[in-house]
Amino acid sequence: MRFPTGFLLGAATAAYQIEGAADEDGRGTSIWDTFSRTAGKVLHGDTGDIACDNYHRLGADLDLAAGIGLNSYRFSIAWPRIVPDGTGSVNQKGLDFYKRLVEGLHARGITPMATLYHWDLPQPLQDAGGWASRDTVERFCEYAQTVLEALGDAVPMWVTVNEPFCAGMVGHLEGRHAPGIRDLRSALAATHHLLLAHGHAVGIIHARGPGRQAGITLNLSDITPASAAEADHTASRLLDGYENRWYLDAVLRGSYPADMLGWYGQQVPFDFVRDGDLDVIAAASDFLGINYYETKVVAADPQEPYHHSRVIPATGRLTAGGLDVRPAALGRILRRVHSEYAPPPLYVTENGAAFHDYVDPGGDVKDLERVAYLNDHLGEVLAAIQDGVDLRGYIAWSLLDNFEWADGYSRRFGLVYVDYGTQARIPKASARWYQQLIAAQQG
Ligand code: FCB
Repeated sequence: MRFPTGFLLGAATAAYQIEGAADEDGRGTSIWDTFSRTAGKVLHGDTGDIACDNYHRLGADLDLAAGIGLNSYRFSIAWPRIVPDGTGSVNQKGLDFYKRLVEGLHARGITPMATLYHWDLPQPLQDAGGWASRDTVERFCEYAQTVLEALGDAVPMWVTVNEPFCAGMVGHLEGRHAPGIRDLRSALAATHHLLLAHGHAVGIIHARGPGRQAGITLNLSDITPASAAEADHTASRLLDGYENRWYLDAVLRGSYPADMLGWYGQQVPFDFVRDGDLDVIAAASDFLGINYYETKVVAADPQEPYHHSRVIPATGRLTAGGLDVRPAALGRILRRVHSEYAPPPLYVTENGAAFHDYVDPGGDVKDLERVAYLNDHLGEVLAAIQDGVDLRGYIAWSLLDNFEWADGYSRRFGLVYVDYGTQARIPKASARWYQQLIAAQQG
């Protein structure tokens, strides 16, 4: 597979999932600390307290990234390391950690891509209303300003907010993620404020000087009706509105989809949306990040309270998380965004899968399912580019096995295996495969 010159081939991580050192060097508490330390919220009671201990193993982990030959590394900055109370004093030691990270990337010839918000809201801000409260947008802008002042010169690409759907809806309607709320109005308000935070951050990033690229990352699913019945079509369209169109329309068209506004409008007031907000949300970004993991086949279900729809359990090739392996769906999503939304340049900012990886008696992790997964999805990426989609990079999730949110350490997504007992790292067969693919792009 031959990608265009300058195409990014990278890997991603996120702060809470790998760093550990939860109480060190002045880091404050985030909603994920609180959530994971609450009994029953995360599988096996796992927390990110230690995670991959990346905070203490930074240089060695960057060497692993360089060993694979990654030309891009996407990481996130932990807000509670920078502004431990969510507002007010700045923790220099937190900034220093990310300075070392960024310098370490440059020293190894890897382009940094930093995410400002990958779900670890400082707990004191949650206590004051969290993302459901508009004040949190202002606090986020203060934090973003601080980070840009410290790192803006050294980081060319900035993801403002990672997956507002997950942070907003999975955290505030489905309750499976922090802060674990189940309330439609809170969820819609939180989502709106996350999008507003994105819009303001684009301005803050651009104000730092020319050449800084800013964009949001959306997780998009391929959603299709279970049958030709009209009720299934309606259900599928609603779920597509819930997961995909709400965000695409807001960011790329400056409006929420009319059918969804009507649907939610019957259930809750939209008093949190103010004049001009959608213009801020749709402020010109330099790129759109797409995370792809899921396909959903949807049937009508009048008993389901929010979208009267039910997802039919996946069959066929499955990941360890029970998700369908459907590479063609990634191609469909890329072409859809390209043709329906006339977006800025696209990046796949995450794509990957958990499989039941194990260390064999020879000490190897032969994750051939992941090799096939990456090969097939990258093939779709290449085909989309050949069809005219302006796609500039592919960032695999993830560099390391890590804390997979509510699934704890049970789901391994890494190119590199982590033995959590010893913190030993073992590059998997997929890391070697990726390394060869990247090496083959040169020359
Ligand atoms: C995405 C998250 C990322 C990771 C993958 C598997 O939704 O952005 O942090 O957990 O799923």
